[in-house]
Amino acid sequence: MVQSKKRFPEGFLWGGATAANQIEGGFHEGNKGLNIADVLPGGKQRLKIIQEPGFNFEIDPNKYYPNHEGIDFYHRYKEDIALFKEMGFKVFRMSIAWTRIFPNGNELEANGEGLAFYDRVFDELIRQGIEPVVTISHYEMPVTLVKEYGGWRSREVVTFFGRYVNAIFNRYKDKVKYWMTFNEINSGLVMPIMGLGFSIHKEEDRYQSTFQAFHHQFVASAIAVKACHKIIPDAKIGCMLLYAPVYSWDSNPENVMYALEEERFFNHFCGDVQVRGEYPRFINRYFKDHNIELQIEEGDLELLKEGTVDYIGFSYYMSRTEKMVIRDEESSQGNLIGGVRNPFLKASDWGWEVDPIGLRITLNKLYDRYQVPLFVVENGLGAYDKVEEDGSINDEYRIEYLREHIREMGEAIEDGVELMGYTPWGCIDLVSASSGEYSKRYGFIYVDKHDDGSGTMERSRKNSFYWYKEVIETNGENL
Ligand code: BG6
Repeated sequence: MVQSKKRFPEGFLWGGATAANQIEGGFHEGNKGLNIADVLPGGKQRLKIIQEPGFNFEIDPNKYYPNHEGIDFYHRYKEDIALFKEMGFKVFRMSIAWTRIFPNGNELEANGEGLAFYDRVFDELIRQGIEPVVTISHYEMPVTLVKEYGGWRSREVVTFFGRYVNAIFNRYKDKVKYWMTFNEINSGLVMPIMGLGFSIHKEEDRYQSTFQAFHHQFVASAIAVKACHKIIPDAKIGCMLLYAPVYSWDSNPENVMYALEEERFFNHFCGDVQVRGEYPRFINRYFKDHNIELQIEEGDLELLKEGTVDYIGFSYYMSRTEKMVIRDEESSQGNLIGGVRNPFLKASDWGWEVDPIGLRITLNKLYDRYQVPLFVVENGLGAYDKVEEDGSINDEYRIEYLREHIREMGEAIEDGVELMGYTPWGCIDLVSASSGEYSKRYGFIYVDKHDDGSGTMERSRKNSFYWYKEVIETNGENL
């Protein structure tokens, strides 16, 4: 084991991250309603299919839906939490499925069975000495709100969301002290279906609809922050951004300017509103160029000011390199966003470019801009794993990826960044969000489940499990 000289701050929140729709399964149990993830078929085309005009958000009996079973956390949470405990997790990031609490999203009363399920999970985590970190909305919008209200286009959804957050804050106020509002909120800029709950109709003004929906989410986020502070005064509530620092392809000032604009627009716009409580000045020009006129109700702007978040949670998988004109053959793939291939970086089997220093750059950029505590709530390598005859899984590639990223977090802390914790994504194998595959594995814990639906769901420890356990035990000293 390579020795690192750095120790992380006392109380650093080591753990792992998941989302309800990717692990729970039990999609029709406990009166749960349908959400967007439930109508996403398996396979690499799933995000394309769901965005097609005319997609009906119904389950097609001829298709396979891996999220319906997830990894059966709904029934196996005790076993899984025991494994997290064995690794020494201080925190576990999970989400609450809105449709377990309000099956259609627009009911007046919360669903008791759904509330009771998360009570059981939180109690078990607390019993094992692990603090829950809860995402309130992680690509799990109720289908009823999508079909009948047009997702976050509708102001009414703000009211429904307000009801939802009040129900969960009141119920779990003694059990959950770390919250986040919308997962990767800025992803709506490129893929409105997952976060904003709609896809653009042919005749629709996409700019107007997208930013109006964002305004509704910002107001909803501020309502959640205020309610959280009131109901659980000792809690911390953050936003959650998809962050991929943007590099200019070269020193051509035109490309540098383009990279700066992309960075501001994609990485900073939402954070500016949620952390500073107001729209950034640069967006006015964008609104003007695209004839966007937001409908802002009386009191909204004050609400944004009052409902600023306590910390920034973000996902970091890769950086992105940009130039103004990209030829097809130089384009790269990534976490919902592309760019050009960076010749200095290698890519994962799914084409996501691996860039540990990019994490240090991200941490410094975010801290320079906002000076609030940061929390890396997603990071990791999706890879194919091979189970050896003796049952072992030698995932050196994953250890290498995580080691390098943790090392760069250590550097960023030395740079002066305030970093609360680290919850690598998919600490237990789960269903991939973008491709619906089980074979794109991130976990320290292997789950015997495969893309064709076969498998026993049995859990086993990969080599990275033992490695991460020691990282946590030594507070980041032994990497
Ligand atoms: C993030 C999402 O974008 O990336 C997760 O918050 C997702 O839900 C993760 O699973 C990894 O992406 P993928 O497509 O490999 O599952």
